[in-house]
Amino acid sequence: MPHGAVISIVDDDESIRKATKRLIESVGLTVEDFPSAEDFARFGRPQESACLILDVRLPGISGLEVQSQLIASNCQVPIIFITAHGDEQMRARALKAGAVDFLQKPFTEKQLFKALNPFVTKHINLDEPPPSPARTQPHKFGFDQIIGVSPVMLEALRLARRVAESEVSSILLQGESGTGKDLVAKAIHYSSRRSDQPFIAINCAALPSHLIESELFGHEKGAFTDAKARKEGLLEQANDGGTILLDEISELDINLQAKLLRVLEEGSFRRVGGLKDVAFNTRVIAASNRDLNRESEVGRFRLDLYYRLAVIQIDIPRLADRGDDILLLANHFIAASTHNGRQSITGLTPEAVNAFRLHDWPGNVRELRNVIERAKVLEDSELISTRYLPRGMVPDRAENARRARASVIDMDGSVSLPPDGICLHEVETSLLKQALGRAGGNQTHAAEFLGLTRDQFRYRLKKLQEGQKTGAGADGRSRAAVRTRELNSAKPR
Ligand SMILES: Nc1ncnc2c1ncn2[C@@H]1O[C@H](COP(=O)(O)OP(=O)(O)OP(=O)(O)O)[C@@H](O)[C@H]1O
Ligand SMILES: [Mg+2]
Repeated sequence: MPHGAVISIVDDDESIRKATKRLIESVGLTVEDFPSAEDFARFGRPQESACLILDVRLPGISGLEVQSQLIASNCQVPIIFITAHGDEQMRARALKAGAVDFLQKPFTEKQLFKALNPFVTKHINLDEPPPSPARTQPHKFGFDQIIGVSPVMLEALRLARRVAESEVSSILLQGESGTGKDLVAKAIHYSSRRSDQPFIAINCAALPSHLIESELFGHEKGAFTDAKARKEGLLEQANDGGTILLDEISELDINLQAKLLRVLEEGSFRRVGGLKDVAFNTRVIAASNRDLNRESEVGRFRLDLYYRLAVIQIDIPRLADRGDDILLLANHFIAASTHNGRQSITGLTPEAVNAFRLHDWPGNVRELRNVIERAKVLEDSELISTRYLPRGMVPDRAENARRARASVIDMDGSVSLPPDGICLHEVETSLLKQALGRAGGNQTHAAEFLGLTRDQFRYRLKKLQEGQKTGAGADGRSRAAVRTRELNSAKPR
């Protein structure tokens, strides 16, 4: 989505239209407003709009008809309906036809921005305090460079921002490979009071342990055969209040883990072969694509170091769990350099959008970036089509999904009960979690995956959370007891 994208509003109620316009303009976006669908048709720029806010009841052509016309003309502008007269049926019809949200008037600022968020590159986060003068300066490695508005990503970034501004001295970033840990580590450093001091990164998997030790802590002259002169370690180089990133910390030798723990606890370190303690004032960001808790359970990582680091743990979500961030990132990488030499690429075809939504993205954002870059080189039309997506990305997933559905749902639409029975509560729990994951934490979208309204979805989720708190099934009975009893009564004796 290009920066400075236009938001269009069509509403005949002037007070609502102007108030909504002012609100959206207050966060730096451009708004065009129209009192009728006819005016919008004449003067609007639906193709260039990042989002269309559309009243349902309008004089003349209604909002729902505008939606149909836009679909018919193949215009894919996301539509947020607003109405004072909405009923469930109208809402369901609009959402089914592809509307992204349906807001009941009067709506709150927060509801409006939450609906708009996925469609504007600029982050609008009303929970954040207004930016301080230092933070309004965009930095090459600042949080502004991190694309993502899904609830799970916003939550991780909110925590990272708060940590950046604090005095916390050690942080653990955990997430699969390619999720953006490096990016977040840099954003933390360059948005902190330490930003004028060095940011130094070392990959613990890249060097043998004896080299890492002297790289990190430095050495005195004569500490070992090759130590011809005293050498400052990375901790010392970043020691004037900078930040050190210990990447792939799970690969750090177990003896060095003990040494690192001592440094963090005591606030000082010694050079290899040295006798003097050097005071330590560096923020340590440890990053891992393995689950360190699990690693410490199996004895590969020191539990005490894990606890020390995990005081502030930021989990960077998998790309497949970030909902429409996938498309936002795709557009970001497409826009990053729009020309492949022959043709400017402006977006994705609807089939490609579908493939992007369905793919599991094991390589996360790095994989997405590579897929776009490859397609940009090969594609010879304006939109990236499925033709140049990696082999298997489209058919495999579709086939898997078909098979998965076929194994659960019979031809007549009925679900077959496996020979040993199932625990209905577990099935429901799993489906609710999957839907939430696929929708990037957005409950309205998760509800749609299950054919539920948002309220029905929230009700079921609440019941499930209450059940988990009491350690019982949704109806208050123990899950195991329910399963045994149900199975027993079903079995012939
Ligand atoms: N949210 C994001 N917005 C924009 N670019 C991103 C985002 N997340 C990741 N990237 C880009 O994706 C690539 C991979 O990110 P990064 O190197 O930070 O991942 P990582 O988690 O450190 O991976 P690894 O575990 O392999 O070290 C980089 O080019 C980065 O700039
Ligand atoms: Mg990394």
